[in-house]
Amino acid sequence: MQTVSKIWMDGELVDWDKAQVHVLTHALHYGTAVLEGIRVYSTDQGRVVFRLTDHIKRLADSSKLIALDLKYSVDELVEATKTLLRETGLEEGYVRPLVYRGFGEMGVNPLNNPTQVLIACWPWGAYHSPEAAEKGIRVCVSSWERINDNSLPPASKTTANYMNSALAKIDSLRAGFEDAIMLNNQGFVTEATAMNLFSVKDGVITTPPLSSGALRGLRRDAAIKVARDLGYDVKEENLRRTDLYLSDELFATGTAAEVTPIRSVDDRVIGPRGPITAQIQGTMSDVVRGRVDKYKDWAEYV
Ligand SMILES: Cc1ncc(COP(=O)(O)O)c(C=O)c1O
Repeated sequence: MQTVSKIWMDGELVDWDKAQVHVLTHALHYGTAVLEGIRVYSTDQGRVVFRLTDHIKRLADSSKLIALDLKYSVDELVEATKTLLRETGLEEGYVRPLVYRGFGEMGVNPLNNPTQVLIACWPWGAYHSPEAAEKGIRVCVSSWERINDNSLPPASKTTANYMNSALAKIDSLRAGFEDAIMLNNQGFVTEATAMNLFSVKDGVITTPPLSSGALRGLRRDAAIKVARDLGYDVKEENLRRTDLYLSDELFATGTAAEVTPIRSVDDRVIGPRGPITAQIQGTMSDVVRGRVDKYKDWAEYV
């Protein structure tokens, strides 16, 4: 991975190589942390962080859901992120805030361990292969069931949740796919390991509802709005795996993956990037860079 000069840790800008935690940090042992993933883009108007405030608000929500007492306000963490981006000079890439239970006591009870915050950033290009944005990716449906609200809350971007995603991802890669889609305990489609899903059938776009166990993705929300602006009927409804197989087009959204077409599911071919996917992908590329008037407020300048 490409590195930058500093990492923000509890109010201090620490040298990248010296940004360390104790080996008995609670989050390292018990998954007691929440994270965000945010993208920064270089534009003619300066650096744009897409929906920075919304991402930090979701970080605060994620913290609340797992009883992490966040000591910083949303505004303070927005400012801290901008300070870090100014200090490192990162032009384009990814920002990773993490709120975690630090060093104190050992044992499952996290309540006596301090809540700490770090914000890191680094250059990060395509999440899948460079050609994925056009050719699409091959995915499978995982045998790992998606976590649910009665086990680990999918609405919180808790690091522990990512073991569920990692299990599905590992198996998909070992089986020769590029990513995996997970079903919930009722058998309905939820999302991919770090992306929300959209199926296009007969011109109608459908994405699984949040109640399926899908994360409230900020790109998902943006893609729904953008697609409706473009005149498409967008439904939030349950999908079965067979609906995926029979889609005319299928795509995924996420901060890391942006808009990624899916060209096959379990080797049922859907095809390379379709026209509706291409249109939404193109518009989203402008939206995230602050080039669409209606969504200028989402573009937060460093
Ligand atoms: C499990 C999961 N679903 C969906 C997403 C997409 O969310 P967003 O569009 O906010 O990046 C992510 C992003 O990291 C994720 O981890």
